[in-house]
Amino acid sequence: MTQVVILAAGKGVRMNSDTPKVLHRLAGKPLLAHVIDTALALEPSKVVVVYGQQAVHDYFSGQNIEFVLQEPQLGTGHAVQQVIPHLDPYQLTLVLYGDVPLIGLETLRAMTADPDALMLLTQSMHNPYGYGRIVRNDAGDVLRIVEEKDATPSEREIKEINTGIVCASTQNLAKWLDGLRNDNAQREYYLTDIVGLAAESSVPVKTVQPASDWEPLGVNSKEQLAHLERIHQLQRAKKLMAQGVTLADPSRIDVRGELECGRDVTIDVNCIFEGKVKLADGVSVGPHCVIKNAEIGRGSLVYSHCVIDDAMIGANCRVGPFARVRPRTVMSEGAHIGNFVEVKNSRIGNKSKANHLSYVGDSDVGANVNIGAGTITCNYDGANKYRTIIEDDVFIGSDTQLVAPVKVGRGATIGAGTTITRDAPPEQLTLARARQVTIAGWKRPVKKAKSEGGKE
Ligand code: UD1
Ligand code: CA
Repeated sequence: MTQVVILAAGKGVRMNSDTPKVLHRLAGKPLLAHVIDTALALEPSKVVVVYGQQAVHDYFSGQNIEFVLQEPQLGTGHAVQQVIPHLDPYQLTLVLYGDVPLIGLETLRAMTADPDALMLLTQSMHNPYGYGRIVRNDAGDVLRIVEEKDATPSEREIKEINTGIVCASTQNLAKWLDGLRNDNAQREYYLTDIVGLAAESSVPVKTVQPASDWEPLGVNSKEQLAHLERIHQLQRAKKLMAQGVTLADPSRIDVRGELECGRDVTIDVNCIFEGKVKLADGVSVGPHCVIKNAEIGRGSLVYSHCVIDDAMIGANCRVGPFARVRPRTVMSEGAHIGNFVEVKNSRIGNKSKANHLSYVGDSDVGANVNIGAGTITCNYDGANKYRTIIEDDVFIGSDTQLVAPVKVGRGATIGAGTTITRDAPPEQLTLARARQVTIAGWKRPVKKAKSEGGKE
């Protein structure tokens, strides 16, 4: 069995932020949450996070993770030492980092493959500056790790670096940590010094390379955070394309949550998907859409610039361009919500249409209803909200206001420009407007001529 220790006590000074570094978000989720989720996928016996700031502890409270405070922070070796009393000595301990969010499950499996060795995750780098270097003998055995600040010029030439991720038996780890000293350039207890101690106690030191070379990248600055975000998004885009999704540009999509796609889904550029989004077979999403916690049914088309949040959109619907579909909206098959239409907490029945410039809120709209341009449901009296009921086959003329609570009966027609304040009976024309008059002989006012030399 494996126990996972995640180091997350550092302040992250270079983020220049009041938010602790590991709570900054990648793909909408804190960096540390990425590491925790990958760690949990390994099915370890426990996950322990070493933290330094209360906010980190509070964010994850209630989850099945243990927290150990490291105060003061005297180095990575000191950090792991704080956790030893909480660990089972007869299990493995895998050390991860809260600011290395893209580490992959396959890599971690390889790290835990040999319980008798000290396993190091290492990598070859063109520019190894700043990293600890892996020092080997002529036979290729790992002797120790030397930090940049403590390295000799020839050691600095070494291209193989320490990613920091290690795995060993907890018993051995505890013993080596007891032997650490801080007589180095940073006056810290380095976790990396256990390598020399393992080599001395003739425990084999083995190295593993990450499945993808970006996995060990860490976040120290906003620039690195943005860089990792793009790497992560590109990986997700590649997975979607491998499943058959057509992406207009894999570098211009952002998935911040779960996006599930059926067959022959097409997504144009600059779309953001948040929370849980399901796109059924044949769905097409136009450019610049933001879709959050929504299901979109088979064959539906979402045109450009739509914002959809917490909605169920049925099959063969049309949405947008420039539509806003707000929480608790349900559109049935074949419904259309057109440009500059806002819908909230409403059901739109089969084949019903609101194609232009409308607000439909707190409404039950039946099937085959036509809602004319500029129609507004007045659902709010300043204190309470009321429902509007529009039954099947209703035709609502343009620029109608429906003052809720109100009901428009099946098959009714509402004349354009009407303010409906009482229920409209079925099958009849209802309208409420002032009668049109023409004033004979009326003249348009004309601008007065400026009086010469006069003051204005
Ligand atoms: C460390 C490694 C180095 C490796 C590099 C990879 C050591 C001594 N060096 O260096 O070999 O190449 O990572 O990025 O381990 N932390 C704590 N408590 C502490 C100190 C650090 O929790 O007392 C956490 C930090 O929050 C951070 C991580 O450990 O997430 C690494 O610490 P950092 O000081 O950044 O190590 P490096 O100097 O980068
Ligand atoms: Ca450091």
